[in-house]
Amino acid sequence: MNSNIKIAFFDTRPYDIKSFEEVNKKSKNNFKIKFYSEKLTEDTVTLAKGADAVCVFVNDTVSSSVIDKLVEFNVKLVALRCAGFNNVDLKSALGRIKIVRVPAYSPYAVAEHALALMMTLNRKIHRAYYRVRDNNFNINGLLGFDMYGKTAGVVGTGKIGRILINILKGLGMKILAYDLYPDKELLKDPDVKYTSLEDIYKNSDIISLHCPLTKESFHMINSKTIDVMKPDVMLINTSRGHLINTKDLIAALKQKRIGSAGLDVYEEEADYFFEDLSGTHLDDDVLARLLTFHNVIVTSHQAFFTEEALENIAGTTIENIRLFLKENTTVNEICHLCPGSN
Ligand code: NAI
Repeated sequence: MNSNIKIAFFDTRPYDIKSFEEVNKKSKNNFKIKFYSEKLTEDTVTLAKGADAVCVFVNDTVSSSVIDKLVEFNVKLVALRCAGFNNVDLKSALGRIKIVRVPAYSPYAVAEHALALMMTLNRKIHRAYYRVRDNNFNINGLLGFDMYGKTAGVVGTGKIGRILINILKGLGMKILAYDLYPDKELLKDPDVKYTSLEDIYKNSDIISLHCPLTKESFHMINSKTIDVMKPDVMLINTSRGHLINTKDLIAALKQKRIGSAGLDVYEEEADYFFEDLSGTHLDDDVLARLLTFHNVIVTSHQAFFTEEALENIAGTTIENIRLFLKENTTVNEICHLCPGSN
């Protein structure tokens, strides 16, 4: 039976449409879904007119003016199909529109991508791949280091950070960890040492960021914090672009004050990531400069992108919408007091 519930999906790609159509059919909700490739912004919010819920992703804008419009259009729910919610003005939403999210879809996907960035940067697989394809079998410049015995600093020991810690322990790395709210189980783990951020910056060979973007974590990696790091430190960011001051990172890379960087997120990614711009030039000089370094790998916010994660995202999002619009209850609701809210 067809439902009268209408949902406007923003910033959708073919893989979103496929996974959501499958789950919508399988779950027998048969919501009327309109998929838009446009991001939700002040300019596109009118597309939500007539919808009961909107579904958005990491680079959609759920600002106070967008929320005003959604409320005016009688949209009752914003369903984020992601975990992070720094793009939502939660104070403005309070008591006016519900916000739900997918708190975990595959923390393994993100942790494994962080590992992929580390391994690739360390052993220079990205460079080796191109060399041998050009019949260049020279290994000069591809020297890496044993990860065994080195120190990894993990900032944020939530779902993703904890999985990464397990993976890195498997490689025989020493683990330093930092979190505003240390994990009770990890505190008992003799192979993990909770310590200060300063200690992590000073003593880690690899630093991997797994905390949300908040006022406190904004630009936590900047010229001052880079200055205390080991000169050949590897920085990995699969969390949110604004955790790193990119201009300071570039300055450090130019001065060889940093070994390498693996970035799945970027401060100004909204205009570029998920788009095929191969026929054009990059307007963003900072991103363009970042892409010139051999010891930097940028991926386009793809850490979450596994089959399992897409299935979980679609399943949880459709269920979040059903519960609120059909049962008048919410799970996975975000409020302005949630840890990690701005
Ligand atoms: P989580 O909520 O399970 O863990 C986050 C941890 O960070 C919590 O333990 C929290 O106490 C801690 N934290 C909060 N503020 C902090 C601060 N200022 N300093 C240190 N720790 C702090 O979240 P989860 O699932 O582990 O995700 C982590 C982040 O990964 C998300 O916030 C999101 O931004 C990002 N993410 C990126 C994806 C990608 O595809 N690149 C996909 C999914 C999440």
